[in-house]
Amino acid sequence: MTFLGVDLGTSGVRLLLVDEDGQPIGATERTYHAAHPHPGWSEQNPADWIAALEEAIAELRDNYPQFSVLRGIGVAGHMHGATLLDDSGRPLRPCILWNDTRSHAEAVRLDAKDQVRAISGNIVFPGFTAPKLEWVRAHEPDIFAKTAKVLLPAAYLNFYLTGDYVADMSDSAGTSWLDVGNRSWSDTLLEAGNMRADQMPRLVEGTEEAGRLRPALLDKWGLNGPVSVAGGAGDNAAAACGIGAQNEGQGFVSLGTSGVLLSTRDGYHPAPETALHTFCHAIPDRWYQMGVMLSATDSLNWLARITGQKPVELTTELDGTLQKPGSVRFLPYLSGERTPHNDAEIRGSFTGLATDTSRAGLTRAVLEGVAFGLRDSFEALVATDAKFDHLIAIGGGSASRYWIELIATTLGVPLSLPKSGEFGAALGAARLGMTAATDVATDTVMTIPEVRETIEPNQALRPAFEDAYQGFRAAYPTIKASQ
Ligand code: XUL
Repeated sequence: MTFLGVDLGTSGVRLLLVDEDGQPIGATERTYHAAHPHPGWSEQNPADWIAALEEAIAELRDNYPQFSVLRGIGVAGHMHGATLLDDSGRPLRPCILWNDTRSHAEAVRLDAKDQVRAISGNIVFPGFTAPKLEWVRAHEPDIFAKTAKVLLPAAYLNFYLTGDYVADMSDSAGTSWLDVGNRSWSDTLLEAGNMRADQMPRLVEGTEEAGRLRPALLDKWGLNGPVSVAGGAGDNAAAACGIGAQNEGQGFVSLGTSGVLLSTRDGYHPAPETALHTFCHAIPDRWYQMGVMLSATDSLNWLARITGQKPVELTTELDGTLQKPGSVRFLPYLSGERTPHNDAEIRGSFTGLATDTSRAGLTRAVLEGVAFGLRDSFEALVATDAKFDHLIAIGGGSASRYWIELIATTLGVPLSLPKSGEFGAALGAARLGMTAATDVATDTVMTIPEVRETIEPNQALRPAFEDAYQGFRAAYPTIKASQ
């Protein structure tokens, strides 16, 4: 038996095939783009996801004969995206993504409504799904009127795979339509957002079977079946499954397009007065909390683009040992910010530039700015009594040792790097596929990865980074006032 994890990311899809012990057999990726038709907008065509998925499946099939004994699939997706379908299941417009901030006015209005924070457990952020639908209602009324179903990106893939409208709790928690404590759609929230229960997919836990692979895909992919498709997860919950974070106190720092600091919680402890997110885990009876910054590796990618370098060229230009904070400060608010500011309109800035500021100096400032942004999330989490003795570092940016030591020093927490191999959202998704297809216990599957190296905070530099962090915090109101 084999199992497939699909990580539908913002910049591409990653497929991971694992054996019945959860060990990786092979992986493949395909990339796609997001369109930004106006400043602050971010959209993707669901047909691009399917084309990328099919190409990646074909490659996996060709390279790994074990694909033919596939028994389970789990899908993890970038969260909050609104995929609007007509009554025949066809997308009515491009999906509006998590990092699209066009609906900030709608988010403010929804957030102020009675009961909304109390039931959803969260601030209504512009990136969440409900305000996007309010925007469509106001600006594209014809499309709004034809909307028969709204699916998150992972649920859209579930629909492609099974033919059923079904979503998991962890992803649905980011819509502002879910009663996050009770793990069910909320009539009050749906009504507040001018939506109806029949426009929502059926809910299952991430570990449960959502359906079976459609006969047409069994044929196309050369499979005998049956193949179970799991409820799946939002990408952060899936990444938590991938590193075995199922219990109180376990968590990670993720340096992807967005930057995430996540902590698993045994119970439901919402903190909607802060800009922390409190969502259902992909595992039944578990929740997690996280701080999200919108531009983590996205900030480095931006600098790479405008300097004509690759991100890795920029980071390798830095001396291997951590240096004390430079005089240049970078505020990483290229797409606005969620935690802690909930501010869709703020934009980034460089300050402290001098004639001798080098490209490497800018890179350092960008890495430091992202580390300080993560420290903001860390402070918000610690204020809710979350405790960490260490965190696992994941995501593309964790390949830079400099960045990881910088973050460990800024947070004052050791960061562990898993042994090379698979441990992210694709592995978490494959693990969900396995729990849905077999009767294996969740605890047996969601194991903690072997650690390659634990990077300790640099104690000698802690005071300097503390000062620089205080300067970073103080800069937000000034920049805000000047924009
Ligand atoms: C989480 C969030 C992002 C996306 C993209 O709330 O918006 O982390 O899931 O990865």
